[in-house]
Amino acid sequence: MNALTIKALGFAALLIIATIYVVMSMDIDLTDRVNAIAMGGAIAIAVITAGVVVKYVNQMKTDTATGELMEDNWDGIGERTNELPSGWAYTFLAVFFWSMWYGLIGYPVDQYSQIGEYNEEVIAHKATYEKKFENATPEMLTDMGRSLYFVQCAPCHGNTGDGLSGKAQDLTKRMSKAQILDVIKNGSNQLKYPMGMMPPGMASGQDAEDIAEYIAGGLKGEAPTAYAACTSCHGADSKGNAGMSPDLTGYDEILIKHTLQNGKKGIIGAMPSFKTMITPIQEKALTAYIQSIAQ
Ligand code: HEC
Ligand code: HEC
Repeated sequence: MNALTIKALGFAALLIIATIYVVMSMDIDLTDRVNAIAMGGAIAIAVITAGVVVKYVNQMKTDTATGELMEDNWDGIGERTNELPSGWAYTFLAVFFWSMWYGLIGYPVDQYSQIGEYNEEVIAHKATYEKKFENATPEMLTDMGRSLYFVQCAPCHGNTGDGLSGKAQDLTKRMSKAQILDVIKNGSNQLKYPMGMMPPGMASGQDAEDIAEYIAGGLKGEAPTAYAACTSCHGADSKGNAGMSPDLTGYDEILIKHTLQNGKKGIIGAMPSFKTMITPIQEKALTAYIQSIAQ
């Protein structure tokens, strides 16, 4: 027996003693068959590990390479033209066939999946939710909207809805003068209203300034004459022609729906789409809450 074997046996013995110590201190019943098998397995693993280490370390010391050296080498490291070790090749093939069996027969990808089950549960839950709150009162909707708002919207729009100093829309007002001027100048095509896009350059110069001032001020008093160019699409009352284009006077449910469905790129950043997260009742609730914080 050489020194290495003695060391390895010593190490295996140490592992076995440690295992026995743990088993004893945990008061495990070794007359139980499963526990006994597990204990036997642990001892076997310790002995086999020691044996394998001894075998290969000894082999490394005496082994000489066989096979022809290939011409290519990388920084002096070459490769020999040995056959694939057959054990490796058979294991590879076995794993390959097993994976085919697993994916197609054992656990077919088109059958049960946890994600699928989760998605189905979410759909079912949303349906019950929609049914339960079908006839929610305006107060309930506002309360519901407040909770939703604090989870989903407040991180960008701020706890008070002020848009965190311009980082997102200030929801206590409809739109700022700068935002309106931006839309008049560049047009807009992101909310997917039936009317489609708003073309750029609908007004310019002083006219644009006057119009932006008028809308940002809440459309009070006499409209500037140039505003006539806008009412053809936004409606004589500026409320968006029954959902054909955005309501410019406030946050109606249609605008909230379009914004949640499509997201919105602002001057500063972008709002993601909430398409898959928010249900129709929740849209109503958010509308009610946002209308309640308008100044
Ligand atoms: C050809 C029809 C049309 C005309 C004319 C028009 N708009 Fe629009 N406007 C739209 C549509 C459609 C949208 C939605 C664009 C989108 O999907 O992003 C829109 C969006 C807007 C928005 C942004 C609303 C929001 O919530 O993002 C503002 C502000 C606006 N229009 C102001 C005006 C003003 C001011 C005028 C007149 C100078 C005007 N529009 C003329 C069709 C029009
Ligand atoms: C990741 C940040 C972010 C989150 C989260 C977010 N928003 Fe926004 N929101 C924005 C930005 C940015 C704008 C565009 C501001 C601009 O036009 O300059 C915007 C615009 C809006 C507008 C104005 C749309 C228009 O065209 O007038 C509404 C309404 C709105 N958000 C509602 C919501 C609601 C309701 C939620 C929660 C469900 C929400 N937002 C969550 C960033 C966000």
